[in-house]
Amino acid sequence: MRSRKSNRSGKSGAGRNPTGPQTLICGNAGVVGMGLMGSSIVACLLAAGHTVVAVEADPVRVRKAPRQVLSLLKGLREESLLRSDPRRIMRRLTISQDYSALRQSQIVVECVTEDLNVKREVIRRIEQAVSPGTVIGSNTSAIPPTALQQDALHPERILGIHWAEPAHITRFMEIICGEGTLPVYAERAFALARQLGKEPSLLRKDVRGFITNRIMYAMLREAFHLVESGVASIADVDRSLRNDLGYWITFAGPFRFMDLTGIPAYCAVMRDLLPELDCSQQVPPLMTRLVESGAQGVANARGFYDYTPAQARRWEKRFLKFSYDVRALARKYPEENGSCIGGTVERTASDKQREARKQGLERRSTG
Ligand SMILES: NC(=O)c1ccc[n+]([C@@H]2O[C@H](COP(=O)([O-])OP(=O)(O)OC[C@H]3O[C@@H](n4cnc5c(N)ncnc54)[C@H](O)[C@@H]3O)[C@@H](O)[C@H]2O)c1
Repeated sequence: MRSRKSNRSGKSGAGRNPTGPQTLICGNAGVVGMGLMGSSIVACLLAAGHTVVAVEADPVRVRKAPRQVLSLLKGLREESLLRSDPRRIMRRLTISQDYSALRQSQIVVECVTEDLNVKREVIRRIEQAVSPGTVIGSNTSAIPPTALQQDALHPERILGIHWAEPAHITRFMEIICGEGTLPVYAERAFALARQLGKEPSLLRKDVRGFITNRIMYAMLREAFHLVESGVASIADVDRSLRNDLGYWITFAGPFRFMDLTGIPAYCAVMRDLLPELDCSQQVPPLMTRLVESGAQGVANARGFYDYTPAQARRWEKRFLKFSYDVRALARKYPEENGSCIGGTVERTASDKQREARKQGLERRSTG
């Protein structure tokens, strides 16, 4: 893979990471699918100095996407996270309906609809366009990368690269190896993540939903259960979560939080509460009804809450502003290294092997 010197103009959070490697793993990146996430991923890559080719199937979105990406870059600039003129940066972006435009890409992130067959077909088309060594990352929310590797020409370079919206602001990234992924490709994805200013996590096993979505969906299921069984209203559930979990989760993950607030009480509560939590395997009826009615959330001003179109736009803007604010706050409290209990428990041989691979990755990715 070609590498080049770190780009000085990319001041975005997105773009600067003093602890990251000094060279970029790539200069040419591709993104397929220019919806909500594709647009912010493109903004993130551009702000970090990459040249980006985006492929989008819908001609209306092809037309609208440049304005959307430009507005995200302007937001970074307004927050003093980007030095260069957003309009100049936009010259490094090409948007096309033609997959062959991806041929120079050293990494391609697919960001299309969350549907296994659609994603498989998109990966098939990406593979026809790029060289055999190109890393192909899927921004799937929950599909195991192993399922995406089936029938691929070069499954060894396919992995999950899970971003969080808005991708040009958040530090989150999960890198998930499928059964057929070679570690060298995960290393490249890791190096890119660091260069983009992310704090990536590596998944040692390919499980549906990865880390955050497994935990978030367990929470969503219980949230629906509380509403549908009449315990609390939607607004009350939202308010409680914002003011409790929302208060500490950017500072500490669940295990650190238990350390901070006293472990034995959690053990006692678990004993009595876990048997009472919802463990239904069906999509909640409230969710099904809402989706069948055509509600998409603020995207079409119809969701769990009522919005006028102006209110929906205001919520989108507030979410972006909040993301910048919370990012600035979190940077005051960086992650501190230290050993944890996971380092002392007895492991199986295959666990040890995976751990060695993970540590190798971490050593290399922190340069
Ligand atoms: N929205 C989030 O917060 C979020 C977070 C993490 C991961 N994801 C994942 O990211 C992916 C995209 O989510 P989104 O919210 O951006 O969806 P979206 O509906 O906003 O965008 C999907 C885009 O893909 C395009 N597309 C569909 N088929 C295509 C094809 N064959 N070729 C090219 N373009 C095609 C669509 O036209 C659309 O523009 C999903 O897998 C989703 O699960 C989303």
